[in-house]
Amino acid sequence: MMNLQKYMLAAPLLLASSLGASAGDGVKVEHLGVNNTLVRVDGDGKYLLLPVQEDVADAKVNILLDGKLERTFYVRLAKSKVDYTVPLNLEPYKGHNIVLDINANHDRSSIREAKDAACWNALEVSNTFDTSNREKFRPAYHHTPEWGWMNDPNGMYYQDGIWHLYYQWNPFGSKWQNMTWGHSTSPDLIHWKHEAVGIEPDGLGTIFSGSCALDKTNSTGFGKDAVVALYTAAGMSQTQSLAHSDNNGETFIKYPGNPVFTLESEARDPNMFWNEKTGEWNIMLAHALEHEILFITSPDLKTWTLQSSFGKGEGAQGGVWECPDLFPLDINGKQKWVLLVNLNPGGPFGGSATQYFVGDFDGKTFTADTDKDGKIPTKWMDYGKDHYATVTWSDAPDGRRTALGWMSNWQYAADVPTQQFRSANTLPRDLSLFEANDGQLYLASTPSPETLKLRDNAIVKGKSLNAGKKASAFALPSANDGICEIAFDIESKKNSKVDITLSNSKDEKVVITYNPSDNTISFDRTKAGDSSFSLDFPAVTVAPTFTTDGKTSVRMFIDRSSIEMFAKDGKYVMTNLVFPAEPYSRISFSSAGAAKISNLNIYSLKSNL
Ligand code: FRU
Repeated sequence: MMNLQKYMLAAPLLLASSLGASAGDGVKVEHLGVNNTLVRVDGDGKYLLLPVQEDVADAKVNILLDGKLERTFYVRLAKSKVDYTVPLNLEPYKGHNIVLDINANHDRSSIREAKDAACWNALEVSNTFDTSNREKFRPAYHHTPEWGWMNDPNGMYYQDGIWHLYYQWNPFGSKWQNMTWGHSTSPDLIHWKHEAVGIEPDGLGTIFSGSCALDKTNSTGFGKDAVVALYTAAGMSQTQSLAHSDNNGETFIKYPGNPVFTLESEARDPNMFWNEKTGEWNIMLAHALEHEILFITSPDLKTWTLQSSFGKGEGAQGGVWECPDLFPLDINGKQKWVLLVNLNPGGPFGGSATQYFVGDFDGKTFTADTDKDGKIPTKWMDYGKDHYATVTWSDAPDGRRTALGWMSNWQYAADVPTQQFRSANTLPRDLSLFEANDGQLYLASTPSPETLKLRDNAIVKGKSLNAGKKASAFALPSANDGICEIAFDIESKKNSKVDITLSNSKDEKVVITYNPSDNTISFDRTKAGDSSFSLDFPAVTVAPTFTTDGKTSVRMFIDRSSIEMFAKDGKYVMTNLVFPAEPYSRISFSSAGAAKISNLNIYSLKSNL
């Protein structure tokens, strides 16, 4: 009996070592069990390149440094084919014995089968990782991650001429996982530089959304003007954590007393500002499942006091409340407060969207304006399908309030036809308030003035035309895959609809319709290109024009797979993704009645790729 046991134990060991031979450069692979493989890094190089297959389950990878667990992450290690590779940065581990203890989760029945997975031979230690663009749908002037998945913009702050942007990032693949704060910086909101990782997961969890600000009064004791960050640590629970940076946002030191705030139910995405009037911090936290925003005060970001909540039963309630922001804007010499609340699902066209409330804030409580019936109206910041998790920059210069949104929708974000990266951010938008005919205050969003820098040649300049039954068409720029800005004014002479069509030679088209009889403008992407990846993608989105005189205007930005359409004065905005087989090559104007199109300008734009 004893002997038999010995034999049974010894057999898999023999098998494991005999299967250890095949591997890529700089690694040694040992299959210990059907689902358990050790990868020893025994070559020199900056990165271990991990082969990914998009449609397999995540493998769980424990990094062992000198035998001790350093961290755990998840990656879809290739089973039958390698779609792309992602780099594990080995630099921080130099001088240690590095072993990856992997649960491959490949659903195999024997070690012999498990060893056939495509990933093992393709693992490689390398000094380089190729980040040059391979994607035809990667925007040429919007911010995108160099590789991997991105969702919410996080921790945006401005200091010394630099706009900092962190973002929810998966460095190990193009689907949501391993949430980390990626980091980019820009001198002008248009040209982005990719920086080293901002904040990495730790024992308290992965790093969910949050905010940054400058601590101008040294309230935290981390130093005057230190960059402070609040974020949600997503571990067994969602808890709130504090960190600060003393090297211009390059890296962060986590507060040893974390978490600084806990609740029994899901709460996340802390957004803060220093309130000069009250001399303390205001923190807004999304009480996600309760559909409310919590208002918290703190003298030092370490001790938090819950003051009030807003939202229960108000506004759109169709999904979780996430990513709040609160800021003042002046209108008619008066200060009003705007509360942004991102909602998923429950947006006006399905899935994710950003709602907002205008009202007053006394440092502890937010009170929303009501309509003539005493109800709190639901207002939408953008009337497209691809605008979410929008928040604004802290400490922006010249009193600006500048916003950025994630240009996707949780309905299909993980399925859009890209692989090297997934998702872009919107163009930056400067916000202001205006009063509409219903007496309510609304947010106007205009493309930040820096976007003017993108203009190259005007291929149509100041053109006017009468749009009738027969369409008048203009060619769109062909340089840089057709990226362009198009602006024009519309005046419908007979209260009849006006169609503006973007099309290509494959008969793919976007139809924009201005309807003066109900003062709306719509965007039909049902025939815009590829939508095979999701039944939720084809859509017609509709915005109020906030005009009643048969006139409106359009300023539109096309960037390979996105179209953002603004009223020239920012009263409506619509952001929609499109995936045409080839760029739209013409724009045409037609009307069932008669309409005048004037000030038509078409600019080709400069590419940052
Ligand atoms: C919003 C969100 C946030 C959360 C983050 C996780 O898109 O769900 O509430 O912090 O994404 O990546």
